[in-house]
Amino acid sequence: MQLGAIKRVSLGLFPTPLEELKALSRCLGGPRIFIKRDDLNGLGLGGNKLRKLEYAMADALAKGASCVITTGAVQSNHCRLVVAAANKLGLKAYLVLAGEEPELATGNLLLDKILGAAGIYFVPKASAYTKEEKGPVEQKVEELEAELRTRGETPYYIPNGCRPLHGALGYAVCVREVVDQLFRLGLAPDCFVVACGSTSTQTGLILGSELYCQGRAKVVGISISRRKDQLIEKIDRSLGEAYGFLGLEDKTDREIIVYDEYVGEGYGLPTPAMREAVELVARTEGIVLDPVYTGKAMAGLIDLARKGYFRKEEVVVFVHTGGIPGLFSSEQMAFFQSK
Ligand SMILES: Cc1ncc(COP(=O)(O)O)c(C=O)c1O
Repeated sequence: MQLGAIKRVSLGLFPTPLEELKALSRCLGGPRIFIKRDDLNGLGLGGNKLRKLEYAMADALAKGASCVITTGAVQSNHCRLVVAAANKLGLKAYLVLAGEEPELATGNLLLDKILGAAGIYFVPKASAYTKEEKGPVEQKVEELEAELRTRGETPYYIPNGCRPLHGALGYAVCVREVVDQLFRLGLAPDCFVVACGSTSTQTGLILGSELYCQGRAKVVGISISRRKDQLIEKIDRSLGEAYGFLGLEDKTDREIIVYDEYVGEGYGLPTPAMREAVELVARTEGIVLDPVYTGKAMAGLIDLARKGYFRKEEVVVFVHTGGIPGLFSSEQMAFFQSK
């Protein structure tokens, strides 16, 4: 199956811009840093989920869905974009959010409400449950699916972060865009740096590098929550699935690169390095990063650059995956205003 022939719906504005961050590169003494502005892809304030949702929503429509159900954290960017995409396609969207309902909806949750999610359900976080048991999120999703079916609806479930295959397809295409944009400047990517959460964005970049850069563009993932061994295993499995889907033979000799030392105390919890990265990019380039994903990923890039990980003239593409509404959650607003 050729990538271009896979069913998708059009949701975002593509190709997204690619800009060189000359001031930031100067400030770090190299490498040459470019930023792929997937935060500017339009719908619902944009972000990396749109490339994945173009495939997920096409699948939902092909299966006759009348509504979609998805899950995430209270400040989930993914959930916001699922509601926006569902609206565009005339589907209803139900959200199951892990965490307590705040008194005041801010950031992404405020947007979920403005976008008019058909239902928002808050369930306890899963940390107290073992892997074998169904956690509160899975239980609520099952209950909701059954209830919607009795009401005559056809629900389609989109996992948090989308299915790895949909992410892989979407981000392989992103690499093709970058290769094209750099080609016009007489350049080629040596390295991509990206935040790694559910892993499918990084999986797609690796697939794209192997399809469009002869595997010569390294893909560095910066974990925003989990340990690198868990992430590497998942990426490896997802690449196998993507190669199988495309009818190609998977490679076995690749190195999957993930750094997990920039997470701090946990998912979404601010770190001094994240704040430095967000403020440095804002003050050198006028570009705003988010505190949960791209801020930590940029903290990783800055630290690696300072440690001499990149050659001075290397072309490094940082993928801005969006997430700006997360900056306007009560917790992050308080953090950025603390001394
Ligand atoms: C803004 C933003 N950046 C990066 C990521 C991580 O992408 P992935 O889940 O594909 O690893 C997410 C996912 O939740 C996100 O919302």
